[in-house]
Amino acid sequence: TQVVRFASIPGDGIGREVMPEALRVLERAAGAFDFELQAEPMEWASCDYYLAHGQMMPSDWKAQLEGFDALLFGAVGWPATVPDHVSLWGSLLKFRREFDQYVNLRPVRLFEGVPCPLANRKPGDIDYFVVRENTEGEYTNLGGVMYPGTEREIVIQESVYSRHGTDRVMRYAFELANSRPRRHLTVATKSNGIAISMPWWDGRADAIGAEYPQVAVDKQHIDILTARFVLQPGRFDVVVASNLFGDILSDLGPATTGTIGLAPSANLNPERRFPSLFEPVHGSAPDIYGKGIANPIAMIWSAALMLDFLGQRAAHDAILRAIEDVLRAGPHTPDLGGNASTADIGRAIAERIASVP
Ligand code: NAD
Ligand code: IPM
Ligand code: MN
Repeated sequence: TQVVRFASIPGDGIGREVMPEALRVLERAAGAFDFELQAEPMEWASCDYYLAHGQMMPSDWKAQLEGFDALLFGAVGWPATVPDHVSLWGSLLKFRREFDQYVNLRPVRLFEGVPCPLANRKPGDIDYFVVRENTEGEYTNLGGVMYPGTEREIVIQESVYSRHGTDRVMRYAFELANSRPRRHLTVATKSNGIAISMPWWDGRADAIGAEYPQVAVDKQHIDILTARFVLQPGRFDVVVASNLFGDILSDLGPATTGTIGLAPSANLNPERRFPSLFEPVHGSAPDIYGKGIANPIAMIWSAALMLDFLGQRAAHDAILRAIEDVLRAGPHTPDLGGNASTADIGRAIAERIASVP
């Protein structure tokens, strides 16, 4: 019997509401598929912890987490009390960097039973992955403010692209595209305006692509790429993007499939030198926190991705089928036009997890 040992880190806001539903579904899957769960809840990595301790996490956070198979993460951020760059650079962005989770894999899929905001689209028409570079690019702390408070104030913030960091995420994206029937990779670029890093990024796509002649490559500037996510979503199979471009694409994509409340993500260290982190794409949603109406499916699907990564493929598939059933037949949370609660959805999915035949 495999033991799946993970830290559960709910964080802030609706992270605290959706995490229990993921744990509920995981428990059910463990029972049905005969593996053992050891979930260790962590109350830090939250803005409440920050207000009490002056930092987001205990100083030995890395030692506390690095032995786990995986991290299951809710969401962090409570901008009313802690500035977002403080809470996020003090937690999630630290995990991604220090555990070298350089791939952020974000599936985008239109499900049956979910009203599509785009006209005339049916399930199957939208089904792609955003592969987001997750440790460098536009997300840096390099730079500063000169002459602050004066008329001459200047702000500089650098972006960083390493060959090592770019090649490895490109290779992951080419491998993923190569494993899919269409063998198609879109490379998000902006080599017209961002005149140093983006032509170089395209060049790395060419260099890695030379190893994958069977994968068709389509380079698109990020501006028209966003338009095509809306107008021609069927063009996309796998999309590889820098950190910021990937961030934007991975909210836009799920919005075209009805709600960002469905969108999961896997922050992967593919070499497994460190634990990978699984979390919804969405944040702490202060505007709906406390009402019990957050859609838990993004969190539950993320938990399923965790099981898949840890070798429990059948349990992943069963959770995904249960999600599909609930989306098709209801109930639905308000973001999908229903009036079910977060817990209603978690229970409905848990009940549908079929046992091993
Ligand atoms: P958000 O994703 O929290 O919310 C955006 C909108 O989507 C809100 O109207 C919210 O109600 C809705 N929404 C989000 N998740 C939902 C769900 N599961 N079900 C139904 N509706 C849902 O983004 P934001 O408002 O820009 O950010 C709020 C806070 O979360 C900020 O502190 C931000 O920095 C943080 N944040 C954290 C993460 C993360 O931890 N990975 C991701 C994004 C934002
Ligand atoms: C995400 C989030 C984070 C990001 C924020 C909260 C720093 O938006 O995971 O998509 O930009 O990566
Ligand atoms: Mn985001």
